[in-house]
Amino acid sequence: MFLVAGAYWVVQRETDLAVLAALLVVIVRYAEPLASFINYTKIIHLVEASLLRIEALLMVPELPQLPEQHPQRYDISFELVDFSYQGSSQPNLIGFNLTIPARSMTALVGPSGGAGKTTVTRLLMRYADPQTGTVKIGGVDIRAIPPETLNSIVSVVFQDVYLFDDTILANIRMARPEASDLEVQQAAKAANCHAFITRFPQGYLTHVGDIGSRLSGGERQRISIARAILKNAPILVLDEPTAALDTESEVAVQAAIDTLIKDKTVIVIAHRLSTVASASNIVVVEDGRLVEQGIHNELIANPGRYSSMWQTQQRVKNWHVARTANQIAHVLSRILYLAGQPLESLVKAQNIITFSCACAGALNLVV
Ligand SMILES: Nc1ncnc2c1ncn2[C@@H]1O[C@H](COP(=O)(O)OP(=O)(O)OP(=O)(O)O)[C@@H](O)[C@H]1O
Ligand SMILES: [Mg+2]
Repeated sequence: MFLVAGAYWVVQRETDLAVLAALLVVIVRYAEPLASFINYTKIIHLVEASLLRIEALLMVPELPQLPEQHPQRYDISFELVDFSYQGSSQPNLIGFNLTIPARSMTALVGPSGGAGKTTVTRLLMRYADPQTGTVKIGGVDIRAIPPETLNSIVSVVFQDVYLFDDTILANIRMARPEASDLEVQQAAKAANCHAFITRFPQGYLTHVGDIGSRLSGGERQRISIARAILKNAPILVLDEPTAALDTESEVAVQAAIDTLIKDKTVIVIAHRLSTVASASNIVVVEDGRLVEQGIHNELIANPGRYSSMWQTQQRVKNWHVARTANQIAHVLSRILYLAGQPLESLVKAQNIITFSCACAGALNLVV
């Protein structure tokens, strides 16, 4: 561009060739350092933003610690807990009372988008303390449990799994750094990870950074479950572990979860009520309040939040079944048509299939 402009100036006699040549030398000499400098300013901005975030993290005051106590059992209780996030205009948990017996499964359900379910589990892990009320494990106020002990007795499997840029082996082992390679492999096998890990040429030594997006959501989640199996903590929190998976991954993840939850105190957050119908206690949380609790059969027998959520989900499921029935009927009638069947019998066959599948859906005989 400069060359074109320079040539024009020379032709127009606005400058002479010697000056143009000198200018070219100067530009070539300084262009590269200038470009590097511009690149550095981008990096400096990134570093500045990171430093600000680190500074904000360091400014967070430490949570107060009560005289040290260690729980001997793993039942959990929330006693009249009120909690608001910093800067929140309204309380996020209000008068929250819940008792969770040891080695039981409690499901937290409720509308998406801020009912307070995840907040309950965050308070258990002591990401923050409630403004009033107490959270206890085995009868011990969690403010008296040293953070490293609390961390070792609670495992969490979230929907979004973060993997560090290290080997798959190291990513699983971070749950219990002293675990041997064999123990890591056993946990991976129990979490249904072993087969997909060994498909990579480097196996367990594959760097997550090298395969990046080649791990599906379900595979990442199974790695997170392998971590939890390896940690073997007595309390387990599962926050929507299968919400965003396809059916195949969901079956594999669910099988891994079934291995994980044996003999643990489990809190599971789920949107799909059918996945938690067997829980020992189902707790409905809405607008930061516990609005209903009980076992599935009791809850659906009474008109209430749970029963209306259940009916809505069943209607959606039946709609899917009816749609599938229509598709099957359509394909079958095409086959019969190609086989030379008369039109009348095609219509009859299609109606019978659609009707029987829709009935099966309505009666919940088809999953
Ligand atoms: N870190 C945070 N800072 C401030 N407010 C928050 C924070 N996390 C959650 N909230 C607010 O607290 C309320 C409860 O959120 P929470 O994540 O517990 O809901 P949830 O029931 O888990 O919802 P979902 O089903 O969508 O996951 C919401 O109003 C949310 O906006
Ligand atoms: Mg949540």
